[in-house]
Amino acid sequence: MEELRSIQWFPGHMTKTKRKIESQLKLIDAVAILLDARIPYSSCNPDLRSIINNKPRLVVLNKCDMADSTQTKKWIKLFREKGISAVALDCKTGRGLNNFIPEVKNVLADRISAWEAKGMKGRTIKVMVVGIPNVGKSSFINRMSKQNRAKVEDRPGVTRGNQWFTIGKGFDLLDTPGVLWPKFDDKLVGEKLAYIGSVKDEILDTEHLAGRLLEYLRDNFPESVCARYKIDMNEIADIEGYDILELVGKKRGMLISGGEINTERAASTVLDEFRGGALGKITLDKAEECSDVRI
Ligand code: G4P
Repeated sequence: MEELRSIQWFPGHMTKTKRKIESQLKLIDAVAILLDARIPYSSCNPDLRSIINNKPRLVVLNKCDMADSTQTKKWIKLFREKGISAVALDCKTGRGLNNFIPEVKNVLADRISAWEAKGMKGRTIKVMVVGIPNVGKSSFINRMSKQNRAKVEDRPGVTRGNQWFTIGKGFDLLDTPGVLWPKFDDKLVGEKLAYIGSVKDEILDTEHLAGRLLEYLRDNFPESVCARYKIDMNEIADIEGYDILELVGKKRGMLISGGEINTERAASTVLDEFRGGALGKITLDKAEECSDVRI
C-alpha cells in the first residue's frame, strides 16, 4: 500500500481541512461523524477528535444495508460504552434516518433546556456533517433535506464549498468544509478502504488487491467465498491470494487465448461483487477487535 500513501495522502490537505473545520466550530452545536458501517474503524479519521475538540458529537454508521447487522449492533454498543451516541442508517433505502434528529436532540438535551430557560425555545440546531470521501455525506444530506441540492459525486475526494442545508424546522446541516482524508499509515486500513472502493481503482493493482481481498475473506469469511465461487475450502486453505484469484477465474471460465486465465477480469469481478454485496453483508472491522477506536 506504499502506492496509496504516496498518491493519496497529502498532509497539506489535512491541515487545510483542519483549519476550515476549526473556523466553523463556533457556528455549530454538534458534529455528526459519518462512518462506513462496514469499516467503522478504518473510515474514521484519527485527527478528528482533536480537531472538533469537545464539541458534542454523535456517530452515524451509514451504509448499514451492506454491513453485518450483528456487528453494527456491537459497534453501537462500543461507541455508547465510550459515551458517544451512535445511530445506524442507510441512505439507499432511508432506513434509520428518522432516528437522526431525535438522537441529536438527545445529545444536546442539556443545551436545549438551557436555551429554553433563556427564552430561546425553538432555536435552530446546527450540525456539521463530517466524514472521509465516499462515506455517503452527500447522500445523507440529500436524503435528510429531501431535496436534490447536495450533489452526489462518485469520485472520492471531490472538494466542495461550504454548504448549509435545512433538514427540518429549526434544524440545519453543514457539509464538511474541505476534504477529510482517511489515514493510510496503517496498511490494513488502506487495504480495507480499497476493498470497499473508497480509493480510485485506477491507481491500484487490482489483481493484487483482489488477491489480498480473497485471502482476507478466506481467513475471515470462508463460507462466503466458497459459496459464491463454488470452491471447496480444501482447494484454497493453503494457497496465496493470487492463486485463489486464478481459481475463481478458472471456475468462472474466464480464459484468454491459449487457455490462460484472465486474472484481470477475475479481479474486477471479485471487487465488483464484493462491493455490490454479492458475497454477503460483511463488516471488515470487527467491534471486538477495535476497542481502541477514538472519536
Ligand atoms: P460522499 O459525499 O461522502 O463522498 O459520499 P456520497 O454521498 O457521494 O456516496 C458515495 C457512494 O456511496 C455513492 O455511490 C452512494 O450512492 C453510495 N451510498 C451512500 N450511502 C449509502 C448507503 O447507505 N448504502 C449504500 N449501499 N450505498 C450508499 P456511487 O456508486 O458512487 O454512486 P451512485 O451509484 O449512487 O450514483
